[in-house]
Amino acid sequence: MSDAEQQADRARAQDDGAQLQEAATGRARHPDADATSDPDDHEAPRRERGKTVHGELANAGHRVLAPDDAEVEAYLETALNAPAPERPAVDRPGGAVPRGEGSRGEPDTVVVLDFGSQYAQLIARRVRELHVYSELLPFDTPWGEIAKRRPRAIILSGGPSSVYEADAPRPDPAVWSAGIPVLGICYGLHLMARELGGDVVSVAKREYGPATITFDGDSPLFAGLGPEQPVWMSHGDSIVAPPPGFGATARTTSTRFAAMADPVRGLYGIQFHPEVGHTPRGRDVLRNFVMGIAGARPTWTPANFIESTIAEIRSRVDAQARESGGDGLVICALSGGVDSAVAARLVHRAVGDRLTCIYVDHGLMRKKESELLRVTFEQNLGMRLVMVDARTRFLARLAGVTDPESKRRIIGDEFIRVFEEEAAKLGRIDFLTQGTLYPDVIESTTPETKAAQKIKTHHNVGGLPDDMRFTLIEPLRYLFKDEVRLVGLELGLPEAMVFRQPFPGPGLAIRIIGEVTAERLDTLREADWIVIDEIKAAGLYRSLWQSFAILTPVRSVGVMGDGRTYANVVAIRAVNSEDGMTADWAKLPYDVLGTISSRIVNEVPGVNRVVYDISSKPPATIEWE
Ligand code: XMP
Repeated sequence: MSDAEQQADRARAQDDGAQLQEAATGRARHPDADATSDPDDHEAPRRERGKTVHGELANAGHRVLAPDDAEVEAYLETALNAPAPERPAVDRPGGAVPRGEGSRGEPDTVVVLDFGSQYAQLIARRVRELHVYSELLPFDTPWGEIAKRRPRAIILSGGPSSVYEADAPRPDPAVWSAGIPVLGICYGLHLMARELGGDVVSVAKREYGPATITFDGDSPLFAGLGPEQPVWMSHGDSIVAPPPGFGATARTTSTRFAAMADPVRGLYGIQFHPEVGHTPRGRDVLRNFVMGIAGARPTWTPANFIESTIAEIRSRVDAQARESGGDGLVICALSGGVDSAVAARLVHRAVGDRLTCIYVDHGLMRKKESELLRVTFEQNLGMRLVMVDARTRFLARLAGVTDPESKRRIIGDEFIRVFEEEAAKLGRIDFLTQGTLYPDVIESTTPETKAAQKIKTHHNVGGLPDDMRFTLIEPLRYLFKDEVRLVGLELGLPEAMVFRQPFPGPGLAIRIIGEVTAERLDTLREADWIVIDEIKAAGLYRSLWQSFAILTPVRSVGVMGDGRTYANVVAIRAVNSEDGMTADWAKLPYDVLGTISSRIVNEVPGVNRVVYDISSKPPATIEWE
């Protein structure tokens, strides 16, 4: 195992720890949570689209707001009037470079058909953790589209529907007869049973939560698991008669057919969820299926990804430069976040000095962050970096402004101006690099996205000529966030950058309540540094979604030495979250809070009191403004 993989393993172990903690406190969400709670919830949990500072949907409509790089990229796209990307007909990694041109070619692929389970993505991620590329497709994808991916196996996800409902989602029937191994999970199992001639009924009492499963016979799906295993169940339907050709391969006390298989046709179904942390040996089940039964090769590794991506970018840029007679110049906006950093590094490895990165130092970053970026990219990696010192400009425009939305608007506007000025200095640019991630791509066919594209097209900030058009390079479009981190480590980026907690585009400006001044920024930066320092020292940094300080406009009385003080109150915020949409305040150990408090009061001039924010989202938001 490489260093990068070992680190990722440690991070995963932390994730799993968090899941187990959830289970212990009874606060876990199960994979098809939508299905069991309120039936009206089925549609609701789809992720809200991100917004730019102008209140418009972020990033040319093909990205959701990942509270990290997205916003900065949205500024750049808006400034440069970038088009929505053109998708290749078959959009898969390594696909654009013919074998023999330095690429290892396409990786073995497992297609996951999404029947609406909130955690369908998790199945794809688990498969990828086995180093097999996995792609999530809508349940009704025509067989022709699926076949183009040349899948080694197909997995049918769970979902909130019941198979006997008239409008129940169904796959293209060719899935059953293509001779490719299929694994149905929960709803996927019921579909397999129902469509192939078995019987599925609704059970009076739905089974939800932990269960013990007993294996019958020696199905290769359960190889190495012993006679029994704890698993996670969530279903209101059950199989009462499997289809012809199928045999039962596992049972629980409440269902005789907790798993079934027709090994001759390569069809397997399981009632439990192997993808969630509460099924401890779930990964082994997926491994048995993907690598054992389907024989997929574990070639989806950061090193292979890097190699084929670099070859692909190089060949695209070279080809376009040949055709257009241009120089094939590429531009990239760095935000300090991991996505833009990894994307830039990949593109740099492919095209070298034809890439210019622009970093706008708006003075709202945390302590040492801009310096880390400069040292990493310019000094250590020798990349062309335009670091724009726009601190005075931003401060001047923020003077006297206290309204949160006005702050956001001003920062966004100023960003666009700075980018326009800098981009215009670089001459003709052919490509714009973006850190679009896989979850943004799989959601990109939704109606909201199409609407967003329209808004974007109509938005014209002016500055650059209308016909200035760029082709997008999106090297991370096949990766989940945790894979981006692995690639970042493999590319030699510093851990502080690779594992950085999300940080909002408007930076510390929305953590200073009231007016943003140079002095208040300094105060907050020092307090924030102590929070991060102590959180890291306590080994909590990676398991928290965010942890930071807020400078409140409140002053309170205190005593220091013999004197009375009347100084600022700093608040601490630390939250656990999966995606920033909802969040729980973190139960930080008292001694960690105590150390943070006394260090801030002792080390940061002008602060004499520290409070801890114990509000969850909703109703509070994570940021205070
Ligand atoms: P809230 O405060 O809305 O934050 O609960 C949810 C997540 O989004 C981040 N955030 C932002 N990110 N521009 C950004 O790029 C913004 O204006 C912005 N506001 C909030 C926040 O840090 C959290 O992770």
